[in-house]
Amino acid sequence: MEVLGVPESDEPRMLKLTQELFGNADPDLNRSGKTITDAGEGVDSIQSVVMDFMMYFNAITEDRRAKPRDDLASLIANGKINGEPMGHLEAMSYYIIAATAGHDTTSSTTAGALWALAENPDQFAKVKADPSLISGLIEESIRWVTPVKHFMRTATADAELAGKKIAKGDWLFLSYPSGNRDETVFEDPFSFKVDRTPNKHIAFGYGAHICLGQHLARMEMRVLWEELLSRIDSVELDGTPTRMTANFVCGPKSVPIRFKMH
Ligand code: HEM
Repeated sequence: MEVLGVPESDEPRMLKLTQELFGNADPDLNRSGKTITDAGEGVDSIQSVVMDFMMYFNAITEDRRAKPRDDLASLIANGKINGEPMGHLEAMSYYIIAATAGHDTTSSTTAGALWALAENPDQFAKVKADPSLISGLIEESIRWVTPVKHFMRTATADAELAGKKIAKGDWLFLSYPSGNRDETVFEDPFSFKVDRTPNKHIAFGYGAHICLGQHLARMEMRVLWEELLSRIDSVELDGTPTRMTANFVCGPKSVPIRFKMH
């Protein structure tokens, strides 16, 4: 939020809007508090959140055009493509992705990691005994949780992949959780291993649009685990975890745990 240029006082609002957007299908998280079963109703509900984001960032755009600062919002507000000012929809899309992409992705990953550590005390003991495994824990939790479930791509050329024919113009649903459990790439893909090497997961996507925030996400998680693992001696589940109802960006909704500190 700081890099983007959102003032600290508006951070809770950005988090709430993000959760309403990605939690649109979940009555505990969405705006209406109701289960959405109708596609049209789902789109309306998403649009009302997007409108709020747009109103917020329209005001930021005006401010940064008048008084540019050293932040990402000023770059977007004054951005040009081929010498022409960036279009309104493009600018709004940039703001919205930068404002939403870092919340539930990272927190879902840490919550899912704690859940996995609670269920795999040997892995907890391993990383606790050897903090140099924290980077392994981070990569494995990102693979394990894969909080971004998919993006779409359009094929630009005919191709064949694993015996499947893909025609130019076809829409492709890139299922990151499936790729991250691919048994031809990962040994024992359904086991959570903090020392998994190599760990060539695709949870941050691939190619030109690979996650812009991947280094920030890893750094945030590193700080959390370094501080937490040096303080807690054990962790176990204290109830049944629940998951968000969603199909785009999601993860655990609650992970009740019991832990010991020294
Ligand atoms: C564990 C945490 C995260 C995961 C798993 C994740 C995953 C992803 C994925 C799968 C994409 C799409 C890549 C593609 O289309 O090929 C993406 C894009 C993006 N992410 Fe993340 N992300 C995470 C954290 C963050 C954070 C902390 C930020 C910071 C703001 C961030 C900002 C972005 C942005 C701006 C894009 C769009 C990049 C583009 O389209 O060029 N992400 N992320």
